[in-house]
Amino acid sequence: MNYRHAFHAGNFADVFKHAVLARLIEYLKRKEAAFRVVDTHAGIGRYDLQASEATRTGEWQDGIARLMNAELKPNVAALLGPYLSAVRALNPDGQLRFYPGSPSVTRHLLRKQDRLSALELHPQDAQTLQAVFAGDHQVRVIPLDGWLAMGAHLPPKEKRGLVLVDPPFEQSGEFERMAEHLANAYRRWPGGIYAFWYPIKDLAAVERYRDRLAGLGIPKILDTWLLIRGAAPESGLIGSGMVIVNPPFTLQDELSVLLPALCGYLQSDKGASSGTRWIAREQV
Ligand SMILES: C[S@@+](CC[C@H](N)C(=O)[O-])C[C@H]1O[C@@H](n2cnc3c(N)ncnc32)[C@H](O)[C@@H]1O
Repeated sequence: MNYRHAFHAGNFADVFKHAVLARLIEYLKRKEAAFRVVDTHAGIGRYDLQASEATRTGEWQDGIARLMNAELKPNVAALLGPYLSAVRALNPDGQLRFYPGSPSVTRHLLRKQDRLSALELHPQDAQTLQAVFAGDHQVRVIPLDGWLAMGAHLPPKEKRGLVLVDPPFEQSGEFERMAEHLANAYRRWPGGIYAFWYPIKDLAAVERYRDRLAGLGIPKILDTWLLIRGAAPESGLIGSGMVIVNPPFTLQDELSVLLPALCGYLQSDKGASSGTRWIAREQV
């Protein structure tokens, strides 16, 4: 386990992921009934953008910093409002210094009846995350393998909610593992919303992943992605995507406003693009 998210916190992929995460949580809040978010690869929850890891890569400068400095159109500002309020809550003096990881974005948006279960395998990171949420009875930090524990936590007792899966993709075969774990989790809890993040480096590998997902027999899967540059050989991480199972009926319309705007703020060349596409769509 070499991956440390502190090097990448607040980069373009985090902005995309956390903006989509916030839309999913806002949808769950339309009903009064309690829900639970299960974050299987939670990280440390709060990142100092002045720390050596973040300053070494400077990735956040082309991510959250661009967004915070942008003039947002009213409809885009409305959709980004919940996410950006989580960022602002960590930076009350208006200077961008701290960035919220997924558990902090989620926690900021929970109501008093809602809960978060956050799994993190790295012992030191799990300890840091436990300290962030010490004494918070709405959050349970679990220092275990998110893949193994996911099954045990599904379905949650609230029977409503979201499973966020955001692994480091540092081992080969991660796409295959994602599809396999999604199939298992869905069997345990077909009513949950699932958001599985993925990196885009190799477009052919992403296509194979989409094909694999299409063959799982899960009736509602929406794919969404944001590429910050055109694909070129050896160009590394060019974008990222989220596979959403059981997406809110509002999501695709929201993303049709949000993603082109994010693409404009975050792009690094004219080959940038974004989109959504159904991988599987139940016929009604
Ligand atoms: C991409 S980072 C998570 C970032 C976080 N979701 C966010 O958006 O702020 C992936 C995290 O997964 C942790 N991790 C790696 N393997 C894991 C596993 N099997 N179970 C749980 N956590 C794991 C890593 O230590 C790392 O903190």
